[in-house]
Amino acid sequence: MCGIFGAILREGRVAPLIHDGLKRLEYRGYDSVGFATLHSGSLQVRKDAGGIDEVVSSLRMDEMPGAIGIGHTRWATHGAPEMVNAHPHTDCEGKIAVIHNGVIENFMELKEELINKGHSFKSRTDTEIIAHLVEEEMKGDIELGEAILKSLKRLEGSYALAILSPSDPEKIFCARHESPLVLGVSDDGVFCASDVSAMLPYTNRVVYLRNGEFAVIDVEGYKITKIQDGSPVERELQEVTWSLEMAEKQGYPHFMLKEIYEQPKSLRGSLRLQQAYLDLLTTLLDRGRELFLVAAGTSYHSCVAASYMFSKLAKLTTFPAISSEFVEQYGSSVGTDSIILAVSQSGETYDTLKAIDHARMRAATVLGVTNTVGSTLTRVSRAYLIQQSGPEIGVAATKTFTSQLIVLAQLALKLARTRGKISQDEVDDFEERLMRVPSYVEETLERHGKGIQALVDKYAGEKLFVFLGRGISSATALEARLKLLELTYVPSLAYPAGESKHGPISIIEEGVPVIFLCPRGETRKDIIGSIMEMKARGARIISVCEEGDREITMISDDIIEMPKGIPEVLSPIPYVVPLQLFAYYLAVQKGLDPDKPRNLAKSVTVP
Ligand code: G6P
Repeated sequence: MCGIFGAILREGRVAPLIHDGLKRLEYRGYDSVGFATLHSGSLQVRKDAGGIDEVVSSLRMDEMPGAIGIGHTRWATHGAPEMVNAHPHTDCEGKIAVIHNGVIENFMELKEELINKGHSFKSRTDTEIIAHLVEEEMKGDIELGEAILKSLKRLEGSYALAILSPSDPEKIFCARHESPLVLGVSDDGVFCASDVSAMLPYTNRVVYLRNGEFAVIDVEGYKITKIQDGSPVERELQEVTWSLEMAEKQGYPHFMLKEIYEQPKSLRGSLRLQQAYLDLLTTLLDRGRELFLVAAGTSYHSCVAASYMFSKLAKLTTFPAISSEFVEQYGSSVGTDSIILAVSQSGETYDTLKAIDHARMRAATVLGVTNTVGSTLTRVSRAYLIQQSGPEIGVAATKTFTSQLIVLAQLALKLARTRGKISQDEVDDFEERLMRVPSYVEETLERHGKGIQALVDKYAGEKLFVFLGRGISSATALEARLKLLELTYVPSLAYPAGESKHGPISIIEEGVPVIFLCPRGETRKDIIGSIMEMKARGARIISVCEEGDREITMISDDIIEMPKGIPEVLSPIPYVVPLQLFAYYLAVQKGLDPDKPRNLAKSVTVP
């Protein structure tokens, strides 16, 4: 995820506004920053890796001349956070400046084609190909706008773009496909940005671009057309009534709620893994005798779920391990044919890095899944995957959890295909349903976004909650319980349901709420047995189950209905969502700040 800001002023210098706009987009990432401005027909670009204020002041970017310009704050996906990879990117002649938020999936083939035509590249980014593509199209003696439109048709993936060039010096060219872009108009000028918060100090009259749209802005206003056929789009400005603070959270009262709602989008992003890396990790995994999935906190819960995916689908012996326990528990048995797959959204968790150090010392193969390009985990892993969830601000992990799961599921399926341990038809079927997971989550949010409040009201006074699940749902139970515990501080337990009769059942008395995770699948019969055991001792049963599951509905006090057709092995992704909402709303009801739970830190880099 990155932030884009562009502006054309009637008078004055645009650079200080770009600086201010990017500061408001800092939440979208801030590992590098760059501006391009146009003045007297010449394009100036300044950029570097580092925080916004730091880079702007060291390169004196506020002083750049010109009333028209674009700026970018980067959150690396392709290429490390270094100066060459910072945006704007330019063509061979340095005359077309491009800023981009998103991922161009077919950039490798386009890059090769452009190199063969004589273009030379400076960065490792996917974005740079856009500048060269436009340059190439312009050789056909067409105007800049037309060359951009032609180039856009060749891009696969997601983008929000702003392009500036002395070839058409009074305009900024914008386009959107799956990454957000909004235009704004004031008496002083016209703006484009990744979200309204960036432009709110200057205007509250905005128009949102939609997927597949191209827009040209100049000081008089904007013109929108469809990328596909160039047909014009009429869209009126609308007035935004948000305050600045609300706008940063896109109208949500907390980052956590915004991030919960971002999950369909972040999951779609995480489905766009680069095949070459997925193949490399699969090959390395296939060489292993055993797999240790090592992580802390929420990331550990994705490892617990993934251990079921790897052993059920790919038939690989897999152990989830809490990273702070790893050395003690498995340290002396790890060897050259062990694979350690470390999962850490920050890539900086001390305990996880310590476990990796140990595994490397014993010549095991270390792989990584992280949300942070350039993090320590990416440096110490033999190969890694970036989960592409975008930055997460809320301390309690939500979208990074579900993204980790969908990345690990893709890896397990790829390995299953390679190893041929389950039939190709089954793998095809899982893959098809995996692609539908973002829509299952979307449906779940639509259904329970507001509805969950009634359940929160009903159970707000409880002093104890118990979460139970069988099989892979025991991981969902662990994560749902962690959300409730960290946000509301209400004591709670989570167990594999079968184990609950070996101890936890002793705390059940009349009225204790027990939340069961009951997706359809192999474990459903057993979970019914566990529900009956708890009911017999007076527990109140809240079941998260498939829509229309009459048997579960009949034995439950309350149900949270989920969409039909979700395979059990993928169920933790959508099934955790209503329980993230439950924990969030219960915290709000108790007057607690869900974004900053007490005593917790987003990233724990100490022993
Ligand atoms: C902290 C955070 C958790 C997170 C854990 C692991 O405890 O509060 O939300 O799950 O660290 O972080 P990682 O960056 O390694 O995923």
